[in-house]
Amino acid sequence: MTPATSRGCGKPCARRLRRCPSLPSLTTVTTSQTHRPRRRRRTDALRRLVREHQLDPADFIQPLFVVHGARVEREIPSMPGVSHLSVDESLDREVDRIRAVGIPAVLLFGLPAAKDEIGSENFAEDGIVQRALRRLRARHADLLLLTDVCCCEYTSHGHCGVLRAGAVDNDATLEILGRVAVTHAEAGADIVAPSGMMDGMVRAIRAALDGAGHTDQAILSYAVKYASAYYGPFREAADSAPAFGDRREYQMDPSNVREALLEAALDEAEGADMLMVKPALAYLDVVRAVRERTDLPLVAYNVSGEYSMVKAAARLGWIDERKVVLETLTGMRRAGADVIISYHAKDAAGWLAEESRG
Ligand code: PBG
Ligand code: ZN
Repeated sequence: MTPATSRGCGKPCARRLRRCPSLPSLTTVTTSQTHRPRRRRRTDALRRLVREHQLDPADFIQPLFVVHGARVEREIPSMPGVSHLSVDESLDREVDRIRAVGIPAVLLFGLPAAKDEIGSENFAEDGIVQRALRRLRARHADLLLLTDVCCCEYTSHGHCGVLRAGAVDNDATLEILGRVAVTHAEAGADIVAPSGMMDGMVRAIRAALDGAGHTDQAILSYAVKYASAYYGPFREAADSAPAFGDRREYQMDPSNVREALLEAALDEAEGADMLMVKPALAYLDVVRAVRERTDLPLVAYNVSGEYSMVKAAARLGWIDERKVVLETLTGMRRAGADVIISYHAKDAAGWLAEESRG
């Protein structure tokens, strides 16, 4: 007979018992039934009473793609339900739908009329994003207007900054990001969101905004942004794939989590008002890790590829889109995100309203 080992108390079992007395036996638990977690799951009212995390449309941000032209409402093939919108009634209608379901904020991405080496339209007073901001600000006093501040949609080479000797020149790019942010603030942005992972981008943008008197405009830093294949559909939508190479010299290595804490700490020190982790789904551990190290509001970006996968599987009838979306967004909240940016936001907010009506 093999001597009994102690599994319960961790000490060698002096009494050579078959079962360590410090470990409650399975039989005891199953026969006494003092603890029945199912009691709390018996009815919907009970389940709601003890629910730990809630989704609220007030915490959603809807991304939008604005384009030149008139009456454009062109669906992005890999992102069903998301369209290129011209800055006229097309944009107005979509924003009305977003507001109607209780979403307080939109995040604007722009497709310029023309691209060049430095991405000039990015900081043009009548650039596409600046025009969208003015129109939305005039129509909606209290809609939160966020803008993505980066170069890749505007540059002919598709990189997130200006080039020098074939590589992104970090410090030369900072000057451009500052100019972009100021034009956005002047056109009505509440929050600018730099996404290019340039070192010092938050400090540079804060200095530029403050220098132009925009001390009330906040910075949501894409502080922790990974070099991810999940951005594929977005790059089609925004026509922003790099013409050569990739973004691994500035976006983070998916293997790293300690580095995320370093990035978050730097951006906090530089004056970021909110921090973001992106993508969300494959990085929920990173959301949790950053959550535990900062007291700033934390945003998770449920990116294009995450959206497209759900849409594709739903179209094939392989998953229940509504349930999968709400479960996924709940997971992001549970991981520690205060705010969620998602292409599903409009639909999810509508479903939440239906559920609360019962
Ligand atoms: C621009 C930017 C990207 C996304 C947001 N801002 C693309 C990229 O970095 O290549 C991705 C958003 C998404 O996939 O939904 N730098
Ligand atoms: Zn970029």
